[in-house]
Amino acid sequence: MPSPATVTRFLTGITTTGTPHLGNYVGSVRHSVRFSQRPDVQSYYFLADYHALIKCDEPARIQRSTLEIAATWLACGLDPERVTFYRQSDIPEIPELTWFLSCVTGKGVLNRAHAYKAAVDRNSAAGHEPDADVTVGLFMYPALMAADILMFNAHKVPVGRDQVQHIEMARDMGNSFNHLYGEHFTLPEAEIDEAVALLPGLDGRKMSKSYGNTIPLFTPRAQLQKLIGSITTDSRAPGEPKDTEGSALFQIYQAFADAAETEALRKAYAEGIAWGDAKQLLFERIDREIAPLRARYEALMADPAQIERILLAGAEKARALSRPFMARLRHAVGLRNLADQPAGTGTPKAAKAARPSFKQYREKDGRFYFKLQDAKGTLLLQSRGFASPQDAGRAIGQLQQQPAAALEALVSQLEPLDNAALRAAIEALENLAQASGE
Ligand code: TRP
Repeated sequence: MPSPATVTRFLTGITTTGTPHLGNYVGSVRHSVRFSQRPDVQSYYFLADYHALIKCDEPARIQRSTLEIAATWLACGLDPERVTFYRQSDIPEIPELTWFLSCVTGKGVLNRAHAYKAAVDRNSAAGHEPDADVTVGLFMYPALMAADILMFNAHKVPVGRDQVQHIEMARDMGNSFNHLYGEHFTLPEAEIDEAVALLPGLDGRKMSKSYGNTIPLFTPRAQLQKLIGSITTDSRAPGEPKDTEGSALFQIYQAFADAAETEALRKAYAEGIAWGDAKQLLFERIDREIAPLRARYEALMADPAQIERILLAGAEKARALSRPFMARLRHAVGLRNLADQPAGTGTPKAAKAARPSFKQYREKDGRFYFKLQDAKGTLLLQSRGFASPQDAGRAIGQLQQQPAAALEALVSQLEPLDNAALRAAIEALENLAQASGE
């Protein structure tokens, strides 16, 4: 495992209101799954079902979409052992963090969010009240999204251009919080992949649910063939040369084919291939790539309980981070155990004084360290250097939450321990965990 200093955390959410289509596959899923397999990347993928409630009031559709999107990612090869794959609504720390962020964010900042402004502009143009039909949920969308991102201290958030403003808002909110309460959040950056293809839909405009021109990714084979047959072409007859420029059919083919295959189709266009034959080529090329994924998708869709289990396991993995992190943030803002008084303000507690404690510090090498000492100052654990105080803080959080599991997971970031020292450290950590649970 590479050291945390070289790992970049990527995080992406997918709103659960629709059925994945070929455009989602080409523009996002395929690339993200490949990317998540890189050793220097740690990925967080989640189903943004709280966000779905903003746009959709059909419960059955939200449930169905959540299932379809989860099955799609898994069928396309996302490995839940390797990445953290979870459902937003399984992480109660996210709405809690949304509230914290709301309390450090000016209302004027949210007034300027594109989606909200567009709604207000539409209303004004139609002569309605500016906020007609605007829910507080829509207004708060950027704060919920910021909580998604800041909760896991993501470095990079791959998004389309339309989402860049949201990432900037997340940065601003994280920054305001850090400024008031100390360095808790990593400030995220948008990662716009220019190379990612924008797929045209059946009518040649961008493939999008809102245009109703999509090809569902895992539509049955016969339906796929039928839909491809309905792609708009011009009226040139067989034998007449065809233009590749502006041909939706050609562009979709290109998104699936390699360079040699693309060249062959270009040549066929020049030589006057019949549209029917070109459509058959496209259908076969897509089906070649999709068929094995479709088989996996159908198997997954037939066993929703399995997907439910995968998501709950993912949520546990995510909450191993979000729970201790939220505990730290609660403490930072003053939502505290009342018996825990700052030193020197009375109520001395013998039990507390005897407890082991963590110390965090920075060394001359510029890296961030922590150690665990018992009440007498004996060293129990010594960390190696972390790239950021957040990384060190997260390791501490994990150790406080699940001492034994975290010790195992963190061995490479700690100075070596013999068995006796390990037992002493676990005992001290459990002692601490118990004390904080009181
Ligand atoms: N707003 C994103 C979309 O509509 C979904 C989303 C929610 C998201 N939370 C996020 C994306 C956090 C990236 C990071 O597509």
